Formats: sequence, C-alpha cells, structure tokens
Amino acid sequence: MPRQADHPIDPLFLDRWSPRAFDGSEMPEADLLALFEAARWAPSAFNSQPWRFLYARRGESDWERFLGLLIPWNQAWARSASVLIYILSDTLPMTGKAGEPATSHTHSYDAGAAWVSLALQATRMGYQAHGMSGVDFDRVREELGVPERFRVEAAAAVGRIGDPAALPEKLRAREVPSGRKPMEEFAFEGGWPGD
Ligand SMILES: Cc1cc2nc3c(=O)[nH]c(=O)nc-3n(C[C@H](O)[C@H](O)[C@H](O)COP(=O)(O)O)c2cc1C
Repeated sequence: MPRQADHPIDPLFLDRWSPRAFDGSEMPEADLLALFEAARWAPSAFNSQPWRFLYARRGESDWERFLGLLIPWNQAWARSASVLIYILSDTLPMTGKAGEPATSHTHSYDAGAAWVSLALQATRMGYQAHGMSGVDFDRVREELGVPERFRVEAAAAVGRIGDPAALPEKLRAREVPSGRKPMEEFAFEGGWPGD
C-alpha cells in the first residue's frame, strides 16, 4: 500500500524507502555520477562541503572488500545492490584564523544532508538507497585508508528493487515501506513543550 502523507508533499518523499531486495544489476556510470552530483549540491555550514564518499561498484574488484565491511546482517541483503557507499565527514572542514584546519559543529549533519540528497536523486531515477549504520567502522577506517580527521558516518546500498522472494525468510516480512510518528511528537511551536 502506498504511504500516505498527512499534508500534501512532493511524492518523491514518500516514494523513497529502504528496500533490502535489489535486483543485482550493475549501475551505469552516468547514473552513479548523477547521484554524487545531487549530493554535491547539498547545503552545508559556510559551504564547507565536509562529505566524502568511498564507493564500490558491483562487478568491480573493490566490491567484496566493501561488502565485507558491513555487519553480516547487512551483508546478507546488501550483496544484491549495485553500489555500496561509505559516507564520511571531514571533522576539520573550516580554516582557522592562522590558516589551520578548524572544526565545524555540523560536519556530520552536513554529510547527512548530502546523503539524503543522494537518496532522493536515486529514487527519482528509479533506484533506492538504503542507509546502514550496521558497519564495522574501525575496519572501514583501516581497510579503506580513511585519515584520522575524517569520521566514518554510515553506509548506503543503492540499486534497483528486486524480487523479495530472493531474500532470506526473516528479511522478507520486513520488505514494506514503514510509517512515521505523528507530527505533534516532533515539531513544537515556541520552545520545548511542557507537560
Ligand atoms: C543512518 C541510517 C542507518 C541505518 N542502518 C540500517 C542498517 O544497518 N540496516 C538496515 O537494514 N537498515 C538500516 N537503516 C534503514 C532504516 O531502518 C530505515 O531508513 C527506516 O526504518 C525508515 O524506513 P524507510 O527508509 O524505508 O522510510 C538505516 C537508515 C539510516 C538513515
């Protein structure tokens, strides 16, 4: 059943969801570049653009290495995606008074904005992007050579939706778009709500 918004919004927001059944196809390079292009135009504090993406394409030599850095639960389904992406942020994306690298309060937040831009662009193009925090973060740093100043934020599996019947039994039942909390639980006028 399609998801229902309580207030009118662009259908793109409802059409984006996180499937686990992907069709195992390869993604044309032009499509992949369009995903990163969408991320590129995300807003960030002082236009510091702290996001970084490390990716592997199905069929390429990096694929198994990238897949092996997810927790086994995620590996079980993400192996049928087309692209695996690790999303990082630069913890020192600013320049200080003496020209030294300086922190930004919102480096993770800005990387999140870039990721969701990528995800929405994916949906628009007939793909879906499934975010993952079930990642062996230490091994990502080590095995993908991530410098100290970059934070490994999360991962994403991107692909075209496949047949849920191909999923392991315990995952099949979950293969439906989720709902959301009512707005009264997260948007408050005038300050934090009293009792
Ligand atoms: C940062 C982040 C981490 C997530 N981690 C995982 C994960 O490790 N494994 C998984 O199966 N789903 C993961 N998800 C998917 C969420 O469970 C999903 O986005 C959420 O239930 C909302 O559903 P929807 O994306 O289909 O609207 C993650 C999503 C995000 C944004």
